Amino acid sequence: MKIDLEGMGVLLTGASRGIGAATARVLLEAGARVALHHNTGSAEVEVLARAHPGRAFPLRADLADDQQVPRLAREAANALGRIDALVNNAGIFEAADPLGPDDAWLANWDRTLAVNLRSAAYLGKLLLPGFLRQGQGRFVFVASRAAFRGDTPDHLAYAASKAGMVALSRSLARGYGKQGIKSFVVAPGFTNTRMADDFIRAHGPQSVLADNALPTLTQPEDIAPTVLFLCSGLMDHATGCSIDLNAASYVR
Ligand SMILES: NC(=O)c1ccc[n+]([C@@H]2O[C@H](COP(=O)([O-])OP(=O)(O)OC[C@H]3O[C@@H](n4cnc5c(N)ncnc54)[C@H](OP(=O)(O)O)[C@@H]3O)[C@@H](O)[C@H]2O)c1
Repeated sequence: MKIDLEGMGVLLTGASRGIGAATARVLLEAGARVALHHNTGSAEVEVLARAHPGRAFPLRADLADDQQVPRLAREAANALGRIDALVNNAGIFEAADPLGPDDAWLANWDRTLAVNLRSAAYLGKLLLPGFLRQGQGRFVFVASRAAFRGDTPDHLAYAASKAGMVALSRSLARGYGKQGIKSFVVAPGFTNTRMADDFIRAHGPQSVLADNALPTLTQPEDIAPTVLFLCSGLMDHATGCSIDLNAASYVR
């Protein structure tokens, strides 16, 4: 079987590095046209865009800022013509001590929910009318094992934001399935990206591997093919599902 995404338009958030960059590469290799959303990583997405002229479109937006989300949706529609799938991958993993000052803790909640959940929901809202007109559209949410297992006390907002993504995806899948819309969650465990750097530096790779059933760290390239598969249409009857990619570190 060959997965061919030629003619398909995908808006992918957080395409500049980590899981998003690996996903961008497989989507482009499969022939899709991809809007490469990023915030600070312009140089990284420009490299991808140059390698795929006419099919990869760098678009910048800070997803912490509501005002920038509609502009991103508009620019993606202009660049791609038709959007067939939205991959909500951008995210932050910032710590806040529950025993620390209230204002820092609340700021962490606001920022985490804005980037990880609110912007993903808002982008979905903005793309929904187009999906309904087309009678077709796919949402893929890159959530986390934390949505199901929970996270450390310093990452309460992160875990809650990812659990929110799961509820959002399931609601979209159930609410709009008859109109041709599908929605999926990918739930990675610890993956070797910049997001995970601090933890690896502080605790060493062995501390992660101790949790995993597999002998090697999960790489972004281990996550990306599942997102591709979900975008392709070959998994449509799994709409509403959440796929665990955590090397059996948390088996539900
Ligand atoms: N790594 C893990 O262990 C792990 C585990 C479970 C789930 N996940 C999830 O997987 C997704 C990708 O994570 P990753 O590990 O690949 O992380 P990463 O390497 O840190 O990349 C994060 C991406 O999100 C973008 N981003 C961050 N803040 C943003 C903002 N305010 N506005 C717009 N974009 C923003 C970054 O854009 P710029 O670089 O352009 O600023 C970057 O492309 C996240 O949703 C994360 O929660 C990761």
